[in-house]
Amino acid sequence: MSAEILRSTGAEHGSITRRAAIGACVAGGVLTLAACAGGVEFVELPSGENGSTTIPLDDIPVGGGGSLQIDKVAVIVTRPAENEVHAFSGHCTHQGCLVRMNDENIHCPCHNSEFDTSTGDVVTGPALEALPEYRVEISGGEVTVHLEPVG
Ligand code: FES
Repeated sequence: MSAEILRSTGAEHGSITRRAAIGACVAGGVLTLAACAGGVEFVELPSGENGSTTIPLDDIPVGGGGSLQIDKVAVIVTRPAENEVHAFSGHCTHQGCLVRMNDENIHCPCHNSEFDTSTGDVVTGPALEALPEYRVEISGGEVTVHLEPVG
């Protein structure tokens, strides 16, 4: 059914629209544990306490990411490639709204700032500063995110 939605919309407009991709996610039942942000899978990840959280690498979608909290601090986790995981502050550096992901970038829904999923750098303003990055360790199929700034 989801393939049908994509095909019919693509024929009308010559490409897959964001609405079609979201419709496909809902039709596919992905919305129960994960939300599709555009064509990107964005999931809720287990939160942690005492400065860190450890999650299975396989729980983070390749090309997508997820959100979690460590000690009630919002964190966004991205996985731009199979063996590449990053963690950034979950709050936009413009005015502090919670960020998520869209098709290509970390996105702030308040004023549409966008940030790079590998570096946290600003891709599109009005934000002027990169998202602060947190330390990540990948070992034995698990990812540990530490609430410690990188650099
Ligand atoms: S709070 Fe994020 S763009 Fe304004």
